Amino acid sequence: MKVTVVGAGFYGSTTVQRIAEADIVDEVVMVDIIEDKPQGLALDMMQSRPVEGFETRVVGSNGYDETAGSDVCVITAGLPRKPGMSRMDLLEVNAKIVSEVTRNLVAGSPDAVLVVVSNPLDEMTALTATVSGFPRERIMGQAGMLDTARFKHFVAERFGVSPSTVDAITLGSHGDTMVPVPSLVRVDGKPLTEIADHETVDWLVQKTRDGGAEIVGLLKTGSAYYAPSSAAAKMVEAVVRDSKEQMPVCAWVTGQYGISDVYLGVPVRLGRGGVEEIVELPLSEAELAHLREAAEAVRSKQADVAQFAGA
Ligand code: 2OP
Repeated sequence: MKVTVVGAGFYGSTTVQRIAEADIVDEVVMVDIIEDKPQGLALDMMQSRPVEGFETRVVGSNGYDETAGSDVCVITAGLPRKPGMSRMDLLEVNAKIVSEVTRNLVAGSPDAVLVVVSNPLDEMTALTATVSGFPRERIMGQAGMLDTARFKHFVAERFGVSPSTVDAITLGSHGDTMVPVPSLVRVDGKPLTEIADHETVDWLVQKTRDGGAEIVGLLKTGSAYYAPSSAAAKMVEAVVRDSKEQMPVCAWVTGQYGISDVYLGVPVRLGRGGVEEIVELPLSEAELAHLREAAEAVRSKQADVAQFAGA
């Protein structure tokens, strides 16, 4: 099995590291346009093998020949946000980069599952689907896993419990119309809505929506990558292992939740075929309305971004 990660920035390189250390594939190829950078990072990671004890080969490259025959490709290429920017401010510049990367990848890996993480996430995922011409279930975006992890983190911190005791999920867009779902949160089995007042619930939802911007503001240059790469690597692992695990991802929706023909954050089962099923969870009326609003907000942007498919 072979995985390619395009982009050797912090997000890309930590994703490569996590996949390599999980020891679930034979080879991970890391591609970047910066001369020698992916080769240097790959050499460094290979030298960690005797200490970490993994067998995965890590290969760095400035071109796409080495990526041929990949089973899964992760697209992290593009610019991150600067403080004060919205993810949408990156649309034009990243659309051109993501289109080119997608064309290069699919030429040598026509059967791959593509995982997009570049921002604005929902739009870049839709663009990748258009440019690749792949069946839509083989294209997905990473956002829900990360936004869910942030939601669980803030709930765990607020109640002083281990994150492993928190169940939660975040749906919708990876932007202003993100939909953390309070009605499905459980803290040690207890419904959040029974142990927290409205103000606390609203605060947790807002902290989750602002989770990425808070880190951009603190870092000053670049955006988050530890939690984002954990999320992307888990998605890759589910596909590689054909695990059928349920995860929230940006997927092509075909009537579920009363929503059709748009890439949106929803719970899915992941396997070798990519998105193998979209799962319909019971949402409150208000949450369902928020999810439909998110769908309409990203639908128009996803139509706009199609103009870059030939760029
Ligand atoms: C974030 O939310 C990088 O968009 C990503 O941190």
